[in-house]
Amino acid sequence: MAPPEDPRNIVLTGFMGTGKSTVGRLLAHRLDLNHVDTDTMIERRHGPIPRIFAELGEDEFRRIERSIAAELATDTGYVISTGGGFMLDSHNAELLAVDSRVFALVAELDIIMDRVMRRRSSRPLLAGPNPREQVRLLLEQRRAGYADFEQVGTDERPPMRVVEEIMRRLGHEPGQ
Ligand code: S3P
Repeated sequence: MAPPEDPRNIVLTGFMGTGKSTVGRLLAHRLDLNHVDTDTMIERRHGPIPRIFAELGEDEFRRIERSIAAELATDTGYVISTGGGFMLDSHNAELLAVDSRVFALVAELDIIMDRVMRRRSSRPLLAGPNPREQVRLLLEQRRAGYADFEQVGTDERPPMRVVEEIMRRLGHEPGQ
């Protein structure tokens, strides 16, 4: 029997603060793949995300995400770290999931809070007066969307352990 083919790309989704960018970078390094981060692509082209939300609105941000999805859909050999809302748009998910492995990184509310509050100013969705309640509500709204993808727990695990878990699921032996 022929060995299983490598996925076209590896896509990381999940809520803000679950470690998609860090894990993506480390995973790409371990697998000798290219790494791309959709938020970084957007910021390079259009400026800081909080400014895009403030000046152009969230709808425009989501439109930019869609154009990035169309661009990345033709690429291969990438680890793609996506912004927390990116793969919840079915249009983006359809484009990026073809022949690819998608992993949703998951974490408990307390751990997410701890991680996102360190960089809250860069996250316009958490700009209101009660970020914990906002995170709780958003998590609830998004749970079903993330559940469409293969889940990887990140609680209490340093990023390298998460990378190893993903590598194991991709069929790599430990230490490989
Ligand atoms: C968003 C998450 C952010 C960024 C934007 C919107 C979201 O990315 O794309 O602020 O809708 O969850 P991170 O998940 O990398 O924080």
